[in-house]
Amino acid sequence: MAGGLKVGFSSYSAPSKGVLIVFAGTDLAFGSATRTLLAPTGDFVSRAAAADGFKGKSGTALDLIAPQGLKVSRLIVVGVGAEAGAEPGDMVKLGGLAFGRAPAVAAEVAIAAEFPDRALTPDQAADLALGATLRAYAFDRYKTKKKDAEPAPKPRRLTIGTASADKARKAFATREAISQGVIIARDLVNEPANVLYPEEFARRAATLRKLGVEVEVFDNKALAKLKMKALLGVGQGSVRESRVVIMRWNGGKKGAKPLAFIGKGVTFDTGGISIKPAAGMEDMKGDMAGAACVVGLMHSLAARKAKVNAVGAIGLVENMPDGNAQRPGDIVTSMSGQTIEIINTDAEGRLVLADVLWYVAKTHKPEFMIDLATLTGAIIVSLGHEYAGLFSNNDKLAERLVEAGKLSGERVWRMPLGPEYDKQIDSKFADMKNTGGRMGGAITAAQFLQRFVDKTPWAHLDIAGTGMGSPQSDINKSWGSGFGVRLLDRLVADSYEK
Ligand code: BES
Ligand code: MN
Ligand code: ZN
Repeated sequence: MAGGLKVGFSSYSAPSKGVLIVFAGTDLAFGSATRTLLAPTGDFVSRAAAADGFKGKSGTALDLIAPQGLKVSRLIVVGVGAEAGAEPGDMVKLGGLAFGRAPAVAAEVAIAAEFPDRALTPDQAADLALGATLRAYAFDRYKTKKKDAEPAPKPRRLTIGTASADKARKAFATREAISQGVIIARDLVNEPANVLYPEEFARRAATLRKLGVEVEVFDNKALAKLKMKALLGVGQGSVRESRVVIMRWNGGKKGAKPLAFIGKGVTFDTGGISIKPAAGMEDMKGDMAGAACVVGLMHSLAARKAKVNAVGAIGLVENMPDGNAQRPGDIVTSMSGQTIEIINTDAEGRLVLADVLWYVAKTHKPEFMIDLATLTGAIIVSLGHEYAGLFSNNDKLAERLVEAGKLSGERVWRMPLGPEYDKQIDSKFADMKNTGGRMGGAITAAQFLQRFVDKTPWAHLDIAGTGMGSPQSDINKSWGSGFGVRLLDRLVADSYEK
């Protein structure tokens, strides 16, 4: 079971209770199995559709209470028009949209996985279930007073009717692992920072051991020994200790280079001495969305027993202002030996990543490194909440990420890198400074990271706009999105498991 939804697959059949959802095309066209399901209702559906002006247009739906001739309490006809299913990722979205039409109090929901012109394939039927699972997620553990008289039953049950239930069930097994990974990431992002501080985050990451993931946790003492002074400098103003967690999944050939995923895990970002304004600061509990994605991804890979070696590495710190906090003007020596002048203590994510990237490059010698970070407000100005910013020193890797983005619906847009931008972070006093001025802020942040990856093929995803507070979608109604889990799982499955 993923989240609060229990998913099953069966042949097309009329459920005896709950909600039945079917798809209609233009001019109320139904597939043959759907026609059989609806036969006992006679002309009820066509009369109701006429009364409502419903013609099966994509994005519209007809909601019928206590339909005559059927035992269900509700029949929902979801329009798919003529073009539905044309775009990759459409089925996942449609699953979310359709499931979202069922009222929250419905314990049992059935969806007939058939389009007017064709039965859906097992993969498509499983995608519908994935979309519904992601849609069903809600972060409500701190709601002690039920607002509605009738709370949503848990777990809810979803049955997908299909011509090939066994194959669809099998196809869903992989997706269930992925949906669990997304939900783990969302939970971590939504969790408040008084509960989820670096040590607690590390404890939760360590639960991946149950799935056969090797987990190493470095505490302050171990980090000092590793000379991760850029990372430790960010955490030194907090009473909470910092942590770095290394997760390893060995599902590939022995000795094959691992793929490496690195996440920014600032459990709360006040800005430090360069303190942020009060308005909206509460959102900075989500400044660990990169690390959350890495944990969710490692869960997915392990749960579906991916045939690949992978390393997940997360830098966990709390950025606070206090008597021991680092100051603007301070110079720190990173693990790489390069020195950094701190201009703005709010540009902390890059300091954390600098040491973790260097450590992973040198210790694990990966095939590639991909980092995810809620790194800059500038990327939100550039791309809004629709695309994550992609920066890379490797065209092949960048192309694969763009493609995986299209297929998963978690889209990325490539941004430039170059020596002109790199110059912006040269410092008067040290090897570099941690900010490059207002212009091209997301790019200069990426340039900074690039100075710590050496020759390793690398991509950086700035998920400040997509990891949290992104617009509500058909497959996410919560604040934390879990962005990146489906994107990177797709990348691994399509390009590195063959
Ligand atoms: N965590 C923030 C970036 C951020 C902003 C994420 C809004 C999500 C929503 C990051 O640590 C930060 O403060 N960046 C600064 C960098 C600047 C000081 C160079 C920024 O973007 O303003
Ligand atoms: Mn910051
Ligand atoms: Zn931050």
